[in-house]
Amino acid sequence: MSTANEFVPAMSEIAREAGLLLMTYFARRVKVEYKGEVDVVTEADRASEALITDRIHARWPRHSVMAEEGTRTQGSGEYQWYVDPLDGTTNFAHGFPVFCVSLAVEHQGKLVAGVIYDPTRDELFSAERGKGAYLNSRRIHVSNIGNLAESLVATGFPSHKRHKNPNIHFYHQITLRTHGVRRAGSAALDLAGVACGRFDGFWEFNLNPWDTAAGVLLVEEAGGQVTDLAGDRFRIDSREVVASNGLLHADLLREFAAIMAGRGLEELPSAVGYAKGRSS
Ligand code: IPD
Ligand code: CA
Ligand code: CA
Repeated sequence: MSTANEFVPAMSEIAREAGLLLMTYFARRVKVEYKGEVDVVTEADRASEALITDRIHARWPRHSVMAEEGTRTQGSGEYQWYVDPLDGTTNFAHGFPVFCVSLAVEHQGKLVAGVIYDPTRDELFSAERGKGAYLNSRRIHVSNIGNLAESLVATGFPSHKRHKNPNIHFYHQITLRTHGVRRAGSAALDLAGVACGRFDGFWEFNLNPWDTAAGVLLVEEAGGQVTDLAGDRFRIDSREVVASNGLLHADLLREFAAIMAGRGLEELPSAVGYAKGRSS
């Protein structure tokens, strides 16, 4: 049987190797292909996934693997991996240096280890259930901001079915209630940002297990809280994610509930009105 503490060193090695491979593609800019209307994929995503899944299968042949670009291995053991070989593909494809590799492993339905590697900054975030969260070799903790009005939070917008996504309304309302909302384009790095206190909170709709698994464990092990938008415990198949330092969680959920009920909304200034004001 595998033990949880065997995972982080080996996962870190795999994530670093995949991250360095991504950097070789990043340096020469790669061609973009479309999975959906604006949902892009590159040869770097596929090469990273092949490297990671080869390493996992070689070392843990009985483990199951679910990876974004199509790998689905049903093993015979109790372990399940979630792999995002390149989180932040749109950024990557445009030369915007915010992307990472995200790996997590679950044992009997419980996340036990997670690693997120940002090769552009050489930052390796890691967590093991019950053992805390780390950035490189430094222990990390969530922030201690307890007031939404003084917080910096993050969100993301999906590239799949984006016409159906209501997040622009949440973005507007929460922007007006905080120091700001960042939308950097990598959900895994957003969650790692909450874990190390750079962000005080994060939310997004429509994420997949490979986007969230490692980051959720990092936030929890760094002392934060993760739920869905209704405030129910986060499950690996929860598509909605709200992560925070814990201190802001109830306030964030209250704001989201108010937005969804249409209560106390700040009016979005009209662009047509603005244009008329300019010309008069
Ligand atoms: C995307 C990123 C982005 C988030 C999208 C994800 P990908 O993952 O995490 O920040 O807003 O919802 O799909 O496609 O770059 O791996
Ligand atoms: Ca992703
Ligand atoms: Ca991806």
